Parts: sequence; structure tokens; C-alpha cells
Amino acid sequence: MALRVGFIGSGFNTRFHIQGWRGVRESAVTGVWSPNHVRAAEAATLAKQMDVGFAKTFRSIGEMVADPEVDAIWLCGPNHTRVENVEEIVHTIAKGRGTLKGIACEKPLARNVAEAIKIRDMVKKVGLKTGYLENQLFAPHVEAGKKLLWARGAATTGRPYLARAAEEHSGPHAPWFWQGRQQGGGVLNDMMCHSALVVRYLLTEPGQPLSTVKPKRVTGHIASLKWSRPAYAKKLKAAMGSEVDYSKAPAEDFASVMIEFETPTGELAIGEATTSWSYVGAGLRLSAELLGPEYSMKWNSLDSGLQLFFSREVKGKAGEDLVEKQNAEQGVMPVIPEEYGAYGYTNEDRHFVRVFLGKEKPLLTWDDGVDVVRMLMTAYMSAEQRKSLPFPPPKLDKFVPAVAKGTWKG
Ligand SMILES: NC(=O)c1ccc[n+]([C@@H]2O[C@H](COP(=O)([O-])OP(=O)(O)OC[C@H]3O[C@@H](n4cnc5c(N)ncnc54)[C@H](O)[C@@H]3O)[C@@H](O)[C@H]2O)c1
Repeated sequence: MALRVGFIGSGFNTRFHIQGWRGVRESAVTGVWSPNHVRAAEAATLAKQMDVGFAKTFRSIGEMVADPEVDAIWLCGPNHTRVENVEEIVHTIAKGRGTLKGIACEKPLARNVAEAIKIRDMVKKVGLKTGYLENQLFAPHVEAGKKLLWARGAATTGRPYLARAAEEHSGPHAPWFWQGRQQGGGVLNDMMCHSALVVRYLLTEPGQPLSTVKPKRVTGHIASLKWSRPAYAKKLKAAMGSEVDYSKAPAEDFASVMIEFETPTGELAIGEATTSWSYVGAGLRLSAELLGPEYSMKWNSLDSGLQLFFSREVKGKAGEDLVEKQNAEQGVMPVIPEEYGAYGYTNEDRHFVRVFLGKEKPLLTWDDGVDVVRMLMTAYMSAEQRKSLPFPPPKLDKFVPAVAKGTWKG
């Protein structure tokens, strides 16, 4: 039997999933809802073009949940609509409508711990299976590197002690990402959710739960390095609209976090992660490293194995056809073919389809999503207090970062 999936949201992220769905068997994309009907129809058309399903568009989330041809929801709306989106799903189910088996939600699960717990508990009450969508854990280079390094290096010389991860680009594509109040923070919330989980995952023995590698202390740092400079604040406002005013309400465009973990054997392991919206290179750069006593691995998504060169005589439109968040169209340019596969979307979606069909155990549930939000909020707390904090610090579940309140001054 195939799992029929409906998408909430028809933006950038949904399009990545739909393209990657060509590598997912036992499933079809049968629905799309977003408030922008034209964009929803475009996403449904993309699903048909990709031959991954005859997706219908719906007038409401409730209508899509109630449809007998939708078995699971992929929740890919903006962060500030998570709670209302989940409420509508849960209310529809509580009225006895629909036959949903599961719900998968994009990162971050929510904007703060209180919201994350709220939606996790609402969904638990109606008995849905959950999946937390963190594509980077499923990136083929991360999967292969972790597997081989643990099987050969760690098995014979001891477990790894240091993991590094970074995600960097020149800034997000839509205005809501830039607004602390809507998104829940700046780059720490938006991208550290990936990197903080990648380091913990790499340090965790394959097949063991993430909880075996326990966070003990967190040191966070945030800064606005580029986008609150007057010339760039002006440029940003012109591109994203008057709501995005980094001269008055910036969000951080740089974040770093150091997480001290305790391994199951009582040893120290360190996760070091950095993320930024102030990186200008060819485009999005994902990287990861894992180091142990006699081995190491490194991955850099821009070392893709394919480079093109365009002389200064080649002139054309700016685009994202070579790499996500592309910054140039001339010179030596790396290309990442099938980015949806390289970033892990295809493997991730295949996994969660099989989870909701009852064929695999979930690698990540909404409990893991809550854990990630706890880690991020501790990093914000640490950055605000300018000191490292034990994990979990007191009052974490009620904490809202100054960036998310719109009161951070950079
Ligand atoms: N895994 C990744 O690497 C990755 C990459 C990008 C985005 N994301 C996450 O995916 C989610 C969507 O991001 P995006 O880049 O597609 O954003 P986007 O702005 O490109 O698209 C957002 C979509 O949500 C729709 N929307 C607007 N109001 C809504 C509402 N009230 N309820 C539901 N949907 C609504 C919009 O019409 C649009 O289709 C975010 O949570 C983001 O953090 C993850």
C-alpha cells in the first residue's frame, strides 16, 4: 500500500521535497494547501510534472486532512504558523474526520520550547505518528561518513570525541525569515537546528538513540556582523520590505555554539557548530567533520566534484540553477546536481514514508524536535547572559529570546 501525502505550504521547502519525491517509492503526493492558491496550484503541477502524484489543491487544511486520499501531512509552512496549522489538523481529527496516520514537520519544530511542547502534546493526544524533518542527517555524505567511520575507526580505536558542523549562506529568501518575531530568532534558530543536531548525531553510535549522548553544557554566541551595517540594512529593507528594518530590529546573522556532551562511557565529547547568513561564497555551504583518536572525516557540500567556468563575456540573469543561494554567475562555479538528494531530502522522505507505513522505526520524532528547540533556546540564553550554561538551564521552557521579542539590539 502507498502512503498518500498532503503538503501544508507550497514554498521553497515544499518544492525541494516534491523534486526529491522521485526517489521515494510506496508513496504519492496527493494534496497541497497554502493560503496562496496560485502557488499551491504551481506546487501541485510540479508534483504532476515530476510524476510523483496527482496532487489536488484544497481550500483549507481541514478539508485536506479530511480527504480520504490523504494519509499523512508534511508540515512545511512558516514557523509563525506552526501552532495554528497543528491546531487545525488536530481539531479536524478530533471531530472524527480523516484517516491520517502521521505528520512530519519541518525544522525547527517551533519557535520556542513552550510552542514545541504544545504542538507535540496536541498531536500525541490524537494518536498520530510523528516525524521531525531534519534532512541533513539523511544527506548521503553524512550517512556514509558516519557509518564507515564508526564501523572501521571507532570500532577498533575508540569512539569519536569532536564533531563540527556548519551551515552558511548569504541570507534567506523570504521576509518572514528575517523577522525575529515571526521566525523565532535569526540564523541561530533558522540554521543551528541543523548543525546542533548533526554534531550530536555524528557523536552517537549507529543504531543507538541520540539520548545516549547527553548534552551537559552549552555556550552560545550571536552577532549581527553584516546586515545591520547601514548600507546593508538599507539594501535588505529594499529587497524584503519595510517590515525588515535591521537598523531598528536586527536578528543575528552569525551564531556559534559549543555543546559539551557526556558519552555513555562517561567521557567528554564536544560538538562545535557555526551558522551564518553573512557568508558570501558560491552559494549555500554545508560542512561537517568528525574526529576520533585515529581517524577523521570532513564534508563540504561545495566540493561537489563538478565545477563550471564562465568568462566575463558570459552575461545572463542571476539564478539558483547551479547551487542553492547562488551568489555569482561568472568565474569558477561549483554545481550540486540533484541538490534535493545531496542535502538529504530524498532519503529523509523515503524514511518517513516507511515509518508511517509501519515499516521502519522513526529516526526522529517530535520529541527529538522538542529537544533541538531546548538546545537552541539554551544557546540563546547563554549568548544573552554571556556565559556557558548547564543543560538544561532553569526556566528554559518559558524562555523567549530577545531576538524573537524584537528587543535585541545587535
Ligand atoms: N530543511 C531545510 O533545509 C529547510 C529549508 C528551507 C525551509 N525549511 C523550513 O520549511 C518551512 C517553510 O519554509 P520555506 O522556505 O518553504 O518558506 P517559504 O516562505 O518559501 O514558503 C512558505 C509557504 O507557506 C505558506 N503559508 C503562508 N501562510 C501560511 C499559513 N498560515 N499556514 C501554512 N502555510 C502558510 C506560503 O504561502 C508558502 O507557500 C519553514 O519552517 C522553514 O524553516 C527547511
